[in-house]
Amino acid sequence: MKVLVVGSGGREHALAWKLAASPRVREVVVAPGNAGMRDVARVVDVSLRVDALLALARREEVDFTVVGPEAPLVGGIVDAFEAEGLRIFGPSAEAARLEGSKRFAKEFMARHGIPSAAFGSFRDAAAAHAYLSEVGAPIVVKDSGLAAGKGVTVARTLDEARAAVDAIFERPGAEVVIEEMLVGQEVSLLIFTDGLAYRPMVLAQDYKQALDGDQGPMTGGMGTVAPATVLSSAQQWQAMAKVVEPTLKALNADGIAYQGVLFIGLMMTEEGAKVLEFNVRFGDPETQVVLPLMDNDLLRVLESVVDRRLARLELCWTGRKAACVVMAAPGYPGAYRKGVPIHIPDDLGPDVVVFHAGTAVEDGRLVSSGGRVLNVVALADDLAEAVDRAYAAAARIDFPGAHLRRDIGARLLRR
Ligand code: AMP
Ligand code: GLY
Repeated sequence: MKVLVVGSGGREHALAWKLAASPRVREVVVAPGNAGMRDVARVVDVSLRVDALLALARREEVDFTVVGPEAPLVGGIVDAFEAEGLRIFGPSAEAARLEGSKRFAKEFMARHGIPSAAFGSFRDAAAAHAYLSEVGAPIVVKDSGLAAGKGVTVARTLDEARAAVDAIFERPGAEVVIEEMLVGQEVSLLIFTDGLAYRPMVLAQDYKQALDGDQGPMTGGMGTVAPATVLSSAQQWQAMAKVVEPTLKALNADGIAYQGVLFIGLMMTEEGAKVLEFNVRFGDPETQVVLPLMDNDLLRVLESVVDRRLARLELCWTGRKAACVVMAAPGYPGAYRKGVPIHIPDDLGPDVVVFHAGTAVEDGRLVSSGGRVLNVVALADDLAEAVDRAYAAAARIDFPGAHLRRDIGARLLRR
């Protein structure tokens, strides 16, 4: 089969890498992709617009499409492909509202009794400020719309919260969600679901803040580890019984057929697991640590979701551990430099794989072209070793001024 992966980051490189390993895949095409993916895929530089991707899929006679990022899902790529009889993995635009509108997600959870933070949602600044005065700090302020993981402020003070509200309302038509701050360990639970059955992937933990010790601004993710062995079996059971299953039931009750990956950001609070957010896609950089641990042929898994045969499939995991260290551009997540030359040695070893996010080739040389540039992933039989291998590999990559966190995995290793 010829498979199209939509997107251009490290998550899509990991998807392409895993799909290329399937005996049933003849070719992987990635659009728009990036220069570093050419080891496993053909990169076709088209825009992320649904019509351009549809034209590409028809022209290339693609057999199966997998969508990485949320924007095309929210924009209806799955509906458009299905209307043309093309097979595609991901939720419909209607289902993708779970991520596309935080207000929609919060109202959905409230309506169905799915545990989550108390909230208010506002279309104007005055009402938002009045609510802030009422509830006080600490408090969490979110842009309701898509913001690439950067639209959230966990405010310690009212002043910080007010500034975050004002910043969001600088955009006309904006909507703000204000939430109670939840406290606990955060985990990324990704499940495959075909709308009937579901299969959880190994849990991952994301290091979202820019600086060590979870300091500094939110980023798209500075590193991940999997499996995140932070939940007792009782907590795992509770997360499935009180969050995952009620969510899938609620989707069905609302007449929303959900097919794809549902990524549930969970906070393990003293009152049990609560939902921080839903994402309607694979996580980035969670995918970079989850897929290398999967023993299944990924194409078969994705097809069984699209064909609604997931109940007959079991996921198999290698039992190893994975760590991903993100090498970001100097200055990220603020204004960052592009065009920094990068050299990656060929001999990083069998247990290391480098997934490219923001890279390009200029004059035959690999250079940085984005904020998060490289994902250095290492595997080992224990997590401490995986983390060490990832940092050792990162140290051998020549990327002047690269910004990376030094404490990926620390939350788990401290235990
Ligand atoms: P979101 O995009 O909604 O997942 O928010 C990004 C990050 O902000 C989450 O991964 C959490 O680390 C943090 N966060 C979001 N909502 C809350 C909350 N209600 N309480 C505490 N932290 C939160
Ligand atoms: N790593 C968080 C996300 O993919 O949204």
